[in-house]
Amino acid sequence: MKTLRICVAGATGWAGSALARAIFTAEDMELVAAISRSHAGESLGEVIGPEELTTPVFGSAADALKTRPDVFVEYTKPDAAKGHILSALKSRAHVVVGTSGLTNEDYEEIDRVAREADRGVLAVGNFALTVVLLQKFAEMAARYIPHWEIIDYAHAGKKDVPSGTARELANRLSKIREAELVVPLEKIEGPVETRGARLQGTQVHSVRLPGYVISIDAIFGMPDQKLILRHESGTSAEPYVNGALLAIREVGKLVGLHRGLDSVMKF
Ligand SMILES: NC(=O)c1ccc[n+]([C@@H]2O[C@H](COP(=O)([O-])OP(=O)(O)OC[C@H]3O[C@@H](n4cnc5c(N)ncnc54)[C@H](OP(=O)(O)O)[C@@H]3O)[C@@H](O)[C@H]2O)c1
Repeated sequence: MKTLRICVAGATGWAGSALARAIFTAEDMELVAAISRSHAGESLGEVIGPEELTTPVFGSAADALKTRPDVFVEYTKPDAAKGHILSALKSRAHVVVGTSGLTNEDYEEIDRVAREADRGVLAVGNFALTVVLLQKFAEMAARYIPHWEIIDYAHAGKKDVPSGTARELANRLSKIREAELVVPLEKIEGPVETRGARLQGTQVHSVRLPGYVISIDAIFGMPDQKLILRHESGTSAEPYVNGALLAIREVGKLVGLHRGLDSVMKF
């Protein structure tokens, strides 16, 4: 039975369209609204197919939220994301965030508003199962190895740095401890920027070049040995669909902000 009413912001995009089609075929979900500025007024099926997908496309979150979704999925751009999320919470929807680029300060505010509204927000920098596993393995490694750095690789056109996956990993590792530096940053000789940005106690380096899709290395170093955890994504948005569907099904059981798909998975 289609009990869960869903709105997808960014439903005409690369990631959002794959998710919207999967929601359309899911037995327990109804896609009641889609958001895209350039296709407002059309039906979603006309834009991304199939034709039977008659969900209306709205140009703004305010209009889309009039359909009273149970779950609002944010899959647009960082500059629009926070406003969408706060509006959805005020309309008493639970929220799943796939968009990358929100800061920890943004998330602190979102957590506060979600708790006041008694609603859940599940923010997942990367819905792919293989990334969830990389995060868990990295957390295990950080308990034993005090030195690590992250390298985030993406295509040349990706504007936000570092990737949502890298931000989320740095945030997780900060809960275990800060990575130790043998030479502190203030004692570096040469341009300190070449050591990357220090993000919640981790040095993070972002590479943006043609030829890359999205990948990440978490490198843990010890004297005479190192562990490199590497994740590589392909070019389709399929790896993100199942994780996002799981997040949509589970977010209603949460209150406040939760980061990472493992918040709703059993390990
Ligand atoms: N968490 C994950 O696993 C995961 C996976 C893939 C991507 N992502 C992230 O998801 C986000 C979207 O990526 P994408 O590659 O799908 O982007 P995309 O192909 O450019 O699609 C963006 C979508 O958002 C809409 N949009 C953009 N700005 C908007 C605004 N101000 N108001 C309303 N709608 C707006 C666009 O439609 P209009 O331009 O017509 O408005 C389009 O539907 C990025 O932050 C990306 O890093 C996360």
